[in-house]
Amino acid sequence: MRAYSNIAVLKYWGKLDEQLILPTKSSLSFTLSELWTDTEVEVKEGKGVELYINGKRAGERAHERVNGFLERARKFYAIPSARFIIKSTTNFPLAAGMASSASGFAALSKALNKALDLNLDGAELSRMARLGSGSASRSVHSGIVVWHKGEDHYSSYAETLFDKDYWQDLRVIYVILNSGEKKVKSREGMALSVSTCPFYNFWIDYEERILLPAFLEAIRERDFERFATLTMEASNNMHAVCLATRPPLFYLNDLSRRVVELVNAFNEREVKAAYTFDAGPNPAIFTLKEYMEELLALLPGRKIVSGIA
Ligand code: DP6
Repeated sequence: MRAYSNIAVLKYWGKLDEQLILPTKSSLSFTLSELWTDTEVEVKEGKGVELYINGKRAGERAHERVNGFLERARKFYAIPSARFIIKSTTNFPLAAGMASSASGFAALSKALNKALDLNLDGAELSRMARLGSGSASRSVHSGIVVWHKGEDHYSSYAETLFDKDYWQDLRVIYVILNSGEKKVKSREGMALSVSTCPFYNFWIDYEERILLPAFLEAIRERDFERFATLTMEASNNMHAVCLATRPPLFYLNDLSRRVVELVNAFNEREVKAAYTFDAGPNPAIFTLKEYMEELLALLPGRKIVSGIA
């Protein structure tokens, strides 16, 4: 079963409940057509998990994560005690701040649903995927997706707000500046931000009350200039929260900052592009079809151009 990666414009960065992965605020993302994970699950007699990623047996950490996910999911879904052979292939660099866990756990949830005949609908699949990785709850859906914060397992789920063809000219360019492992994983980084950033509560309140409604309006009107301005603001704000975390979290590097400057220069007369960064140095750049070629020629690094899946 295939699930696509997603890039959040309004980011998830912090949990209220670490077990259920309930976020401190809602988030908003675009599902990306060119970055995906395909997963098949085979259920055999026995116990435990055997996980293969791109043909190779995955490391201990990945096995622990999947085991933890299955344990949590058992509380809500009829997952038998059995041996799960999980085979995943993905077409993008893992752990490069490119939401590989998002498409990974979304694809795994879909594959379990199929292998075990669970008959889960989209909202239920997003709840299940959330138990693996928060951002995975959004990756089970296509188009422009909101993950409602909620306050328990049932009310915290994702859904499509605008379908994949709503904004046909929109493009996302992933710029791979560095495909190495990131320094502080999102999971640890966001926990530090929640507990130490002095303006953390101000930030979530601002995002929920001001930025989320503004984003929805800009998207509804397909107002690129407004959407792009909000996207850059939201990314900058999240990285300000990271900088104000103890110890500070630096996800951007010199090349990332160079891309910020390039985009700003490109936007001097008219806003034609917007950068956004997750917990890593690689930017995702939103633009419109008509500006693509010009922008591609300007940007450094390896580039993946994607539409909305
Ligand atoms: C910066 O979903 O990877 O990409 O729930 O702990 O697995 P866990 O975290 P994860 O965090 C993603 C954080 C982000 C922002 C986002 O995608 O919303």
